[in-house]
Amino acid sequence: MTADELRNMYVSFFRERGHAEIASASLLPENDPTVLFTMAGMHPLVPYLLGERHPSGKRLTDIRKCIRTCDIDEVGDYTHLTFFEMMGNWSLGDYFKEESISMSFEFLTEHLHIPAKRLAVTVFKGDERTAADTETARVWKRLGLTDRQIFYYGREDNWWGPAGQSGPCGPDTEIFYDMGTPACGAECGPACKCGKYVEIWNNVFLQFNQDADGQFSAPEQKNVDTGMGMERVLTILNGKTSVYDTELFIPVMARLGEMISSSQKCIPERDRRIICEHTRAATFILGDPKKITPSNTEQGYILRRLIRRIVRLFKKAGINDNCLCALSTVIIDQYKEAYPELEENRAFITGQLQKEYELFSRTLDEGLKKADQYLDRIGENGVLDGELAFKLYDTFGFPIEFTVELAQERGFSVNLDGFRSKFEEHQSKSRQGSAGKFAGGLADHTLQSARLHTATHLLHAALRKVLGEEVSQRGSNITAERLRFDFSFGRKVTKEELEQVTRLVNDAIEKKIDVIVEEMSPQEAYNSGALGFFSDKYGVKVSVYTIPGYSREICGGPHAGNTGEPGRFKILKEEASSAGVRRIKGVIDINM
Ligand code: ALA
Repeated sequence: MTADELRNMYVSFFRERGHAEIASASLLPENDPTVLFTMAGMHPLVPYLLGERHPSGKRLTDIRKCIRTCDIDEVGDYTHLTFFEMMGNWSLGDYFKEESISMSFEFLTEHLHIPAKRLAVTVFKGDERTAADTETARVWKRLGLTDRQIFYYGREDNWWGPAGQSGPCGPDTEIFYDMGTPACGAECGPACKCGKYVEIWNNVFLQFNQDADGQFSAPEQKNVDTGMGMERVLTILNGKTSVYDTELFIPVMARLGEMISSSQKCIPERDRRIICEHTRAATFILGDPKKITPSNTEQGYILRRLIRRIVRLFKKAGINDNCLCALSTVIIDQYKEAYPELEENRAFITGQLQKEYELFSRTLDEGLKKADQYLDRIGENGVLDGELAFKLYDTFGFPIEFTVELAQERGFSVNLDGFRSKFEEHQSKSRQGSAGKFAGGLADHTLQSARLHTATHLLHAALRKVLGEEVSQRGSNITAERLRFDFSFGRKVTKEELEQVTRLVNDAIEKKIDVIVEEMSPQEAYNSGALGFFSDKYGVKVSVYTIPGYSREICGGPHAGNTGEPGRFKILKEEASSAGVRRIKGVIDINM
């Protein structure tokens, strides 16, 4: 089966069952402040999952471009990708578990002809907060799955959402394809990472709303959100074991093979896969109509990280020319029919790849030499000093994750806290704030700016409460004197609304609430409902700042220890910043 056939079959199947096909949106989510990229088909649908009426009705389907950088370290195995196509179908207050699962089962077994005995599914087993999802288990049994094919897991594995700090969430049932012999040699289940079970589809039953305090309530409507991994299903249907053996990767892998054979080096398969996978992801990011360019912040930083990793692997492979554009061209040609934006932006894509390649090649050799020296001198603890990692970043443009990888290749780790504190120190000195987001948009680290930073979190939360969840941060800039906050919102905010927002912020100031900071993995932060830029920027651990009852965000800090220091928050100005983005300037007036 070809990719085109699979895409068409999926969409036709759901159209025949009353679903309207909606267009694959930009890779940059408009309505979801919690991620840098659309990482699931449901992101652009959040307002509709929350009850807004969708113009196309209650049953929707599409094929969505997604980027999931949380899987970046696993890229190079058989199935993990940073860019992938998610085929999805949604019920907005229409059908629920029975119909959703039955449709998935019918599509898999009767249309894709996957034998039911090769399927395994997982079901939420319940915990002290939520009962087990017995209904889902019952449906699977009714469809003929045996007890040995149904696995019960807890919240870490079988729960989805909310996508932000609050919103729809609920248990899910994940559908796996059983590849056969377990590589781990044990009687394992879908939670095992040995490769026996490949997740192909996830059906999420959004039967709760979670509020900002983490409390559940029954939503106005129960929704279904499903997502199926196109590349993985294509792999299975064609009897392959790896996504790289499908038509989607064969041409680009072959082109890379030609480049490598002329360099006569022996390059590990994993490196080849990473080069091709990252080239595809970078091509799609650059091909997005929003025209992201490599930079030190947000989406641009992810793009830079992907490209710089490729450039280094080229170097390892003895490829000295910029072959990146040639590889990207193979991708564009392959996908241009399904995704015409790639053809439209062809010159932009290759132009940016060329530019970033040249920029980084200039410092790469020297940087690698320096990194080697640092790693040669590493002490017995096996940890590279944060300051040295910062030097590699600052002088040679080595993204921190890149340095971590270099260190790991030699069995070492990097002091990330040390790196971060050096980074922030540097940020506070440099007023340009070129990588401002990394340090929370702070250009100045005085006590007053830390307070304004905390006020910014309160403002963000208050705006979302008063104006709705579609409000999301678009930019933040803080000096010792004032905060400036840009957020997505489609119209002028009224005087009354601004007063309400101000009142909410000052409420929190009056209540003298301690600001709590915790360290956790991006995934844990995401699961705990923190707003922020999950999985993308900070690598292994992130800080989550919580103002209980008000706000919870991933952030680089620093913040005030308590909301209740002298003064009152005041909005000086609310104005348009760009299309669909508003700007607020505010101060803390200590004379009030
Ligand atoms: N939103 C669900 C997922 O990404 C379908 O797994």
